[in-house]
Amino acid sequence: MSAKRSKAVERLIETALQAQKRAYCPYSRYPVGAAVLTETGRVFAGCNVENASYGLAMCAERVAIYHAIAGGHDAIKAVCVVGAAARPCGACRQVMFEFSSKDTALYLVDLHPATGRRSVLKTTVFKLLPMAFDPLASGLLPKNPRNLLKRKPSRRGRRRPAARHRRK
Ligand code: THU
Repeated sequence: MSAKRSKAVERLIETALQAQKRAYCPYSRYPVGAAVLTETGRVFAGCNVENASYGLAMCAERVAIYHAIAGGHDAIKAVCVVGAAARPCGACRQVMFEFSSKDTALYLVDLHPATGRRSVLKTTVFKLLPMAFDPLASGLLPKNPRNLLKRKPSRRGRRRPAARHRRK
């Protein structure tokens, strides 16, 4: 598409374009494709998956991110979203933020359904979600939230923070 983009980013965009074709969206008829490039150089795809019970629909971005997490890669270098007007919803912005750094790039590919013409907008996850909910980094989270429930703390129950917080 553009000579200015790296091979890894071109592969990311191509993966999202292919994933859009696999969207399951018989209710909205609005196919979305997404792809995540991890800091380890892996690419994971996602598409929106809807359900007859409408509220169960899952956005393409979250499918791609959860795919990466399930594959053991929780540090995101770039995300690509493809749609007729690709703009991640608020919920997806918060989920992207959880696994992003300040430099995590976001490529928004608007694909005109009739003409096939596309435009690519580059931004960052942090720009799209200023003042994100980030209790781990801000120290707002109680050291051991289980204390609030007056239960004995369990080591097994403690979750591992995402890469963004581990790097500090
Ligand atoms: N959708 C996404 O996959 N990503 C977004 O960021 C916005 C919306 C999906 C959800 C639903 O299947 C369809 O688009 C219409 O809202």
